[in-house]
Order: sequence, then structure tokens, then C-alpha cells
Amino acid sequence: MDFDKIIDRRGTHCAKWDMMSDLYNVPGDDGLAMWVADMDFAVPDVVTNKMREMADHGVYGYVNCDSPYKDAIRWWMKNRHGWDVEADAIFTTTGLVNGVGMCLDTFTQPGDGIVLFTPVYHAFAKVIRNAGREVVECQLVQNDGRYEMDFEAYDAQMTGSEKMVILCSPHNPGGRVWTQEELRAVADFAKRHDLMLLSDEIHHDLVYGDAKHIPMQNAAPDITDRLLMLTAPSKTFNFAGMHTGQVIIPDPDLRAQFSRRMMALALSPNSPGQWATACAYSPEGATWVDELVAYLDGNRQMFDAAVNAIPGLRSTELQATYLAWVDFSGTGMSREEFTARVEQGAKIAANHGTTFGTGGENFLRFNLGTQRSRIEEACNRLREAFSDLQ
Ligand SMILES: Cc1ncc(COP(=O)(O)O)c(C=O)c1O
Repeated sequence: MDFDKIIDRRGTHCAKWDMMSDLYNVPGDDGLAMWVADMDFAVPDVVTNKMREMADHGVYGYVNCDSPYKDAIRWWMKNRHGWDVEADAIFTTTGLVNGVGMCLDTFTQPGDGIVLFTPVYHAFAKVIRNAGREVVECQLVQNDGRYEMDFEAYDAQMTGSEKMVILCSPHNPGGRVWTQEELRAVADFAKRHDLMLLSDEIHHDLVYGDAKHIPMQNAAPDITDRLLMLTAPSKTFNFAGMHTGQVIIPDPDLRAQFSRRMMALALSPNSPGQWATACAYSPEGATWVDELVAYLDGNRQMFDAAVNAIPGLRSTELQATYLAWVDFSGTGMSREEFTARVEQGAKIAANHGTTFGTGGENFLRFNLGTQRSRIEEACNRLREAFSDLQ
């Protein structure tokens, strides 16, 4: 796979490139789109070939590809993550934000508190609030730039109105791969406060170096009676537009409740998304992912070296994800000033840290899922935009 090959996504109704001038006031022609989490790479051939075959066939009627789809998911989870998944445990949602919404809808009531470890992926809070539930922010603490949890503080915060905790594992932003001990502590916290535990593991394949992702069901097999696992091939293989994610529910009673809700809303998956998943979760897909992770690791190292050489800026060391989380607090600048330097000075569209909740105020999130030459260009532009600090 040639990850260096530039693919121009401008003018394709692409959210990342075609919306950046409206959203960030970064010029569409020479701006760099480093915000929303998709990559500028083509999917593996094994997926494109299947899409071509479907398009050429020309008949897009109802399908039943449940077996190849679920077999592939089970194969992937077992082979890549050592996780045994039952076919009946797998539900398909319109992506994972929809999966979160469906879980809130099925397992909580309006007014219930939903615990988030902030800063965290912004769509969680958006869905929770729009569903009439309350966001309960438990702030992560930073030790030497590494995010950790403080359960003593979180225990003191609980009021009894909380019904669910959502864990992002690996964590977006901040790139933590939670250890066995940390996952165990989250599971114990859920038990202590009688919370459902939703573990969003969408970034589980994009892990660097020695870090090892552990699926929550493996880390805490005793809490399956309150566990909802969320996975998707979309970040790993770059087909978020297919809107296909999985809610995996090990417990038969919880499964029955979820199934009824899915049927009440008449939700069923679309065929391209199912086929793309079935093809991606394969030996060919696995080879592609191994090459991708090595490439992203190179991007991460180049970006971190350049950013950390600028006085006052600090790029969080990622164990996972292609989402660099950069702390600007050392510059002493206001949020408006460092953001303007990145957007108007460097002409880079990056996510605003404030949208990730408490603790994100002094950060911007940069998407590194792009060609190396663009990372190099971003580094040069940032160096220039903050040149007076050097
Ligand atoms: C933790 C997490 N969950 C879910 C999503 C989005 O999932 P989907 O596109 O399947 O709705 C993202 C996207 O960045 C994410 O980071």
C-alpha cells in the first residue's frame, strides 16, 4: 500500500476538506484539514474490489449476508484481540455514535446521569444532552502528560442518579491504552455505583509500540451483566461514511432488551457496510492494518518531534489513535490567540479542545491520518506560526 500517495478529496463533498473553511475559516484551497477523524487513505483493495463487484452487479435489493459478516467480525476479534464474541451478541448500528444513542435509549431514562472521563470524544456529550440525560464529568488527571483516573475523587462525586459510565478505550483524545489494572478499576467503579458500562473500543486496532489493547470483556469477565461493547471497522479501515458499527452485548438478558428496541425502531444494516466489514476483517485486511499502523507511527513521531521543539507546545505521547492532542498552555497565550495562530497563521483546521469537555481548554486535536508530506507541511507551518517563541 502506498500511503504516501496524495489523494485530493476536495470537491467530493468530503466533510474534512470541504467544510473546513465554513467551520474553521481556514482557506479550502491551501488549508490543511486535520480535524474530523477520518484518514486521507484509500481503503484496502479487498474492500474496493467488493464495492466494484457490487456496483457492477447493478441490483441493490435486500440481502442476507449475516453469516459472512458476523463470521468475519468474530474472526477479527479473536485473532487481533484474543476476544471470543458470540454471533448472537452482535448488533449492527448506523455507526457508533448511533450505537451510543441506542444504548442510552434502551438502558437509561431521561434525567439519568451518564459518567464521562473528560476530556473525551465530543459526540458522547452531544448525544447524552440531546437524549435528555445529564453529563457527569469525571476529569482525568495528567501525570507527566499521561492521562490517568482518580477514582477516589469520582466516588465522592457520585450522587446516586448516575446510571451509566462511558469509557473510551483506547482513549480519544490523549491516546491512552488503558492497562488491565485501570480497566479493572473502571469495572469496579461501575459495580460500586451500579452503573451500566459502555466501552467504546473503536480505536482498538490503531495501537503503537508495546501497548496492548485489552477488550473490557476480557479485562473484567465478571461484569458482563452490565457491559455493552462498541466496535467498528470504520476508523481502522477508513470507511466511516459507510456508517456501520457494532454493539456487542455478551449478556443474553441485556441482548434481548436491546434487540426489542432495535426492532421497535426497525433498524437494520445496509449492505455495502456489511460487505465492507466482511472483506476488511480478513488476512488481507490485517496485513494492510499492520502497514498502516507502522506508517501512522512514523507520522506521529515526525509530528511530535517538531511540535515538542516549539517552546510552550507539548504533544501528548500517543499509545493509540492518529489524533495528536497538543497542549498550548506553556505558551501563556489565550485560547483565542493560539487558535488564531493555528487557523489563520498556519492555515490548519484542528479540533478545538473545549469541545472535549473539562480539561480540554488549552488543547487542539490534530488528525495525523494523512500523507507524510502533509505532516511535514503542517510541522513547517506550525514552526513558522510560533516562530517568535523560538
Ligand atoms: C471514540 C469514538 N467513538 C465513535 C466515533 C464515531 O463513530 P461513528 O462514525 O461510527 O459514528 C469516533 C470518531 O472519531 C470516536 O472517536
